[in-house]
Amino acid sequence: MKPIQVGLLGIGTVGSGVFNVLRRNQQEIRRRAGRAIAITMVADLDVARAQSLVGPDTQVVSDARAVIANPEIAIVIELIGGYGIARKLVLEAIEAGKHVVTANKALLAVHGTEIFAAAHRRGVMVAFEAAVAGGIPIIKALREGLTANRIQWVAGIINGTTNFILSEMRDKGLDFAAALKDAQTLGYAEADPTFDIEGVDAAHKVTLMSAIAFGIPVQFDKAYVEGITQLAAQDIRYAEQLGYRIKLLGIAKRREGDAIRHTRDGIELRVHPSLVPAKRLIANVEGAMNAVMVQGDAVGTTLYYGKGAGSEPTASAVIADLVDITRLHTADAAHRVPHLAFQPDAMSDLPVLPMGEVVTSYYLRLRVADQAGVLAKVTGILAQADISIDAVLQREADEVGGEGSTQTDVIILTHDCVEARMNAALAQMQALPTVLAPIVRIRKEELA
Ligand code: HSE
Repeated sequence: MKPIQVGLLGIGTVGSGVFNVLRRNQQEIRRRAGRAIAITMVADLDVARAQSLVGPDTQVVSDARAVIANPEIAIVIELIGGYGIARKLVLEAIEAGKHVVTANKALLAVHGTEIFAAAHRRGVMVAFEAAVAGGIPIIKALREGLTANRIQWVAGIINGTTNFILSEMRDKGLDFAAALKDAQTLGYAEADPTFDIEGVDAAHKVTLMSAIAFGIPVQFDKAYVEGITQLAAQDIRYAEQLGYRIKLLGIAKRREGDAIRHTRDGIELRVHPSLVPAKRLIANVEGAMNAVMVQGDAVGTTLYYGKGAGSEPTASAVIADLVDITRLHTADAAHRVPHLAFQPDAMSDLPVLPMGEVVTSYYLRLRVADQAGVLAKVTGILAQADISIDAVLQREADEVGGEGSTQTDVIILTHDCVEARMNAALAQMQALPTVLAPIVRIRKEELA
């Protein structure tokens, strides 16, 4: 049988990895796919550079539309990134009847509904294993391996840049700015790291996982996104003393409504720094590595670990999609695995809950005047708000400002409560004259 022909849009780090792995493992891949897979056409603005990367047997053009127009090409790989031209080209490729493989999390998290609907109409596949956690086959695991389960939650370290920075902060006692600088020097963070450090990249990825886990539409605009730029070295230290590590987690959680707490059914979709018990495996994922935990009702807790970026790890995911499509493209479209795991006519309309309705526990750090009754006032506010305290840690007082006036840090861990209630209690605590600096609040996930 002739090889299935693939066109590649954009050849950079990942694209070259795809070429190298396809070439190196061609026998294995062919034995699995039942047919050879050949990238016969590449579009890239820098034609000379692209040609030198792929060799003389592959046609290189500068116009991506020439690839889409080629009737011999069955699959288009989009590795351009962003949601401008990439969106147009993906939609055009779908309209031209091509199957699409993409690593573009931003595109799918924001425009996924439009793209999957177009693919469904046209009877083609859009595969995106490489869009979440690079080489970890988490899309496949969630969509197929765990298909028997009612998924309860997904929580992941899905951004290597921020995990590297947090590891540096903990290992070396650095503050955020110094750790970011290290990450940039070592090539773990981009010159403009905004999407990573502000949590946007992780939010794109967890949005995709939420859709597959719960059969809801991709709704990046509803995700709560908070990055790591405000984290202080001392909170990482205090957390450690209390038996926790701080990780940037992407969380998608099914929430059953609760009459006592006045909460409703919905999905929590959020990215923020979280305290995680140090004894959990995921708390020990260090450096630029990624890991995703999934809790299903039948399987219990599962954990997936690996490289979340890089040339060949991401190529591994792209090629897995190419093999899937090669095996399935002749199958009746209705018999293929649905893009978002659930049949398009069986999607759920469970709402993504606003952050005020999220239920979680908290780490609070208060800088207070070291005077009698201060702690009682703070705990009194929490008690009035019906927020239960799990642990309190008070540091030795520091002498500041002379004349024996001292300040100290009080750290409080709470049990679960609704975030709106915590916000109200925080406002009251902040208003106390003995609370001397903005209160630090970091959410805490037990992941039990
Ligand atoms: N910039 C991402 C990370 C990799 O740091 O994990 C690509 O999504």
